[in-house]
Amino acid sequence: MKGVILAGGSGTRLYPVTKAINKHFLPIYNKPMIYYPLSLAMLLGLKDILFVVNRYDLHHFQDLFGDGSHLGINIQYTIQEEPRGLAEGLILAEDFVGDDNICFMLGDNIFFGHDLVKILQEAKEDIEKNGGAYVFGYSVKDPERFGVVEFDEFGNVLSIEEKPKKPKSNYAVVGMYFYDNKAIEIAKKVQPSERGELEITSVNEEYLKQGKLKVKLLGRGFAWFDAGTHDSFLEAGEFVATIEKRTGLMIGCIEEIAFNNGWITVEELEELAKPLRKTEYGQYLMEIVQNNKLQGV
Ligand code: DAU
Repeated sequence: MKGVILAGGSGTRLYPVTKAINKHFLPIYNKPMIYYPLSLAMLLGLKDILFVVNRYDLHHFQDLFGDGSHLGINIQYTIQEEPRGLAEGLILAEDFVGDDNICFMLGDNIFFGHDLVKILQEAKEDIEKNGGAYVFGYSVKDPERFGVVEFDEFGNVLSIEEKPKKPKSNYAVVGMYFYDNKAIEIAKKVQPSERGELEITSVNEEYLKQGKLKVKLLGRGFAWFDAGTHDSFLEAGEFVATIEKRTGLMIGCIEEIAFNNGWITVEELEELAKPLRKTEYGQYLMEIVQNNKLQGV
C-alpha cells in the first residue's frame, strides 16, 4: 500500500494567516501540522509517501522533508496546479501508486486515540485482502462542515453526502481513507460538485453504490481534529500540548517513529537531533538516543 497525503488547497478559510504561508506548515503546538498525517502514515508502516502540493509551496515541502531518506522512507511530490478538489489528488497520484492500494490522507487532519493504529491497520489489511474502500465516521456537533455518513439501525451505510445543509447524522467522515486501486479510475469519472470541486465523497458514494464501502465509527476514546478553521486549529494545538505535557511523550514525532520502526539507527537519530538540541523537540530526541545507548551498554 502507498500513502498519498493531500497538502495542496488554497487555505482561504484561514486567511489572512495563510495568505503568505501554507497552512500545513503552521504549528500544531510544537511541530508543523503536516507532521501529524505523515507520522500516522509511518505508524502504519507506509514507506512510500506522495505529497500532493501547490507549485508555489513545493520547495518548502522539499526543505522540510527532502526525499525522506533521513527517515528511512521514500517521499515524492506531485503538483496540483489548482485546488480542484480532493479526488483530483487520486488522479495525480496515478503514476506513483501504480497497481498498489492507497492510503489517502488529508494534510490538515489530526488523530489521536487508544488503539488507533491497530484499527487503521485492520482497515489497511482488509483492503489489501478484499479490496473496496474503508472510511471512518466520528461524531461531531457541526456535521454540515464535513462529509456525513448515514446508517440504518443495523449499522449499514445508507448514504454519504458532502457538506449537507440538513445532515442525516452527526457522523463526519474523517480525512483518512483506504482504497483499492480502482479508486483512481473512479476519481477520473467524478464530476465537479456545486462548489466546483471533485469531491472525495463522490468517490466514496461510488464505492457505496457498488456495495464496497466499509465504514467504521471512531468512538469516544478518540480525538479527531480538522485543523482547517481558526477554532479547530487552536483546539488541536491545545489538545496536543495537554497530552504531551501530561505524558512526556510526543504525538507526531516523525524521527522517533522512524527509529522505533527500525528505519533509522540510533546514530542516525542522534545526527537528526543534534541541530535541534536547543529546542524541546531536539532534547526529546536526544533523550531517546541516550536511553537507547544506556540500554545497549
Ligand atoms: O476533514 C475531513 C473532511 O475533509 C471530510 O469530511 C470531507 O468529506 C472532505 O471533503 C474534506 O472537507 P474539507 O472542506 O475540510 O476539505 P479541505 O478543503 O479543508 O481540504 C482538506 C485537505 O486537502 C487540506 O489539507 C488541503 C487539501 N486540499 C484541498 C483541496 C480542495 C488539496 O490538497 N487540494 C484541494 O484541491
